[in-house]
Amino acid sequence: MTVRKILRMGDPFLLQPAAVVSNFDTPQLHQLVQDLFDTMQAANGAGIAAPQIGEGFRVVVFGFETNARYPNRPPVPTTVLINPVIEPLSDVTDEDWEGCLSVPGLRGKVPRYTHIRYCGCDQFGVAFEREVRDFHARVVQHECDHLDGVLFPMRVRDMTQFGYLDELLATKRISTSIPEE
Ligand code: NI
Repeated sequence: MTVRKILRMGDPFLLQPAAVVSNFDTPQLHQLVQDLFDTMQAANGAGIAAPQIGEGFRVVVFGFETNARYPNRPPVPTTVLINPVIEPLSDVTDEDWEGCLSVPGLRGKVPRYTHIRYCGCDQFGVAFEREVRDFHARVVQHECDHLDGVLFPMRVRDMTQFGYLDELLATKRISTSIPEE
């Protein structure tokens, strides 16, 4: 179990594009995946990308179980996604609140495609693809942005829809907690 330090917005490493993974089923890759899960779980996150722990590779993990804190967020299966490619399946976007482990305490409303197909490989090099919608699609788009050096505040269109979670909750701007990813 290795909980790694999570880089925060302002660290220039988070702005760098990550490198494609070419070797699968290696001890190094398995360790990276395990560290990502350990770090995500220790921080109660819904997802995390390798650059967030200082590893510049196109690896993300995510997974989310609905609980009382997040009644409006459906579960997302636990997933290892490497070298992802996202294809929007319609032009429809939706704005909803997001948080990020690299931007702790803050939340903002971000537009995302509501219906996408994504493909990639797992840590063994097995290719897979999924067609997903809504929160699952949002999580994938958020995590994959990290691989291109994009953090969610960079996508907030209306900065009046950005602030500290506790203030947003206290003033009833948002009604439930929003996970960090
Ligand atoms: Ni994030």
